[in-house]
Amino acid sequence: MRIGLAGAGRIGARHAVALGALPEVEALLVADADPCRARDLAARLSPAARVRALDEVEELFAAGLDGLVVAAATDAHAGLVERAVSADIPVFCEKPLASDLHGTFQIMAAATAAGVPVQVGFQRRFDAGNAAAREALMSGRLGWLHTVRSCSFDPAPPPAEYVPSSGGLFRDCVIHDLDLIRFVTGREAVRVTAAGANRGDEFFREHGDIDTGSALLVLDDGTLAVVSATRYNAAGYDARLELFGSKDSIVTGLDDRTPATPLPERGPEPRNAYCGFMDRFADAYDAELRAFVDMVAGRRGNPCPPEEALEAFYLAEACEMSLREGRAVGTDEVRR
Ligand SMILES: NC(=O)c1ccc[n+]([C@@H]2O[C@H](COP(=O)([O-])OP(=O)(O)OC[C@H]3O[C@@H](n4cnc5c(N)ncnc54)[C@H](O)[C@@H]3O)[C@@H](O)[C@H]2O)c1
Repeated sequence: MRIGLAGAGRIGARHAVALGALPEVEALLVADADPCRARDLAARLSPAARVRALDEVEELFAAGLDGLVVAAATDAHAGLVERAVSADIPVFCEKPLASDLHGTFQIMAAATAAGVPVQVGFQRRFDAGNAAAREALMSGRLGWLHTVRSCSFDPAPPPAEYVPSSGGLFRDCVIHDLDLIRFVTGREAVRVTAAGANRGDEFFREHGDIDTGSALLVLDDGTLAVVSATRYNAAGYDARLELFGSKDSIVTGLDDRTPATPLPERGPEPRNAYCGFMDRFADAYDAELRAFVDMVAGRRGNPCPPEEALEAFYLAEACEMSLREGRAVGTDEVRR
């Protein structure tokens, strides 16, 4: 297979490693709006010359690709995905599918018109713990859910230049929790109440963003779900999902690397807390790209189509509206 990679930044570099390790991927062609980044990445990864940098992003679309992985900045997704599907190239696109609803609909329309699959990069669906949580809930073992708690705590903020094109904390970061809650519970949220805070670097506020946020979701069966996210959790990267039911409770992402110290302390223990999303979800990133290659090869269906991403995006929009307007927002207010 010839796979293209658009975007050689933080997550693009991680995906290049995963793709390079797949035996089906005979050639990986990397392009970035900044060609130096593509060249640096290819040089770092290419002892066997399976990874090659292109000078122009445009070259990707004439390279005879079997699939394209879009890991460029969020505001570039819509243009790249639209271009790829019109050239009949299946796409894996990082979340969020686009930075706004307009771009999301643009991608969905292009993919439908071309009849070409677009898989969205919600890697938490591929985390073994989260998949097991879904099965446990569906099996009835937990009884009925009263409370769901999900968190995404980054140890340190992204570079300041990432923020303006990110879409903001709810669309960029909390969207993982929103997708996961839908995926695991199989329910939709009917109402959302969100709040945000700026206690860290000024650049978040300067770009109209927050560095910490929480949202309370009321699901359509009455379950309450609480989502929390921050860019400032110096203890480490903490992404947990907790399901509390009438019969039993379970948690994913809680192990001896979870960056939270139980008190009273049981003595000085060397700790190796998760240092970031790439560390915590390493297996999940590998699994989602394996799934993409399997989908391209026709061995499986699309595990996360754009319609799923749209639903998560609606919830992020509702959170954003609730934050701005200081009130509870019905999810029907943001649906188009
Ligand atoms: N699934 C996850 O856990 C996860 C984690 C991090 C980032 N992401 C997503 O991945 C995307 C990239 O994030 P990042 O952290 O790697 O950002 P980044 O800023 O490190 O990298 C983005 C790269 O895209 C390049 N770029 C911009 N426009 C381009 C274009 N038109 N064509 C090709 N390249 C272009 C930039 O030059 C840069 O190298 C974002 O959409 C982000 O939301 C997902």
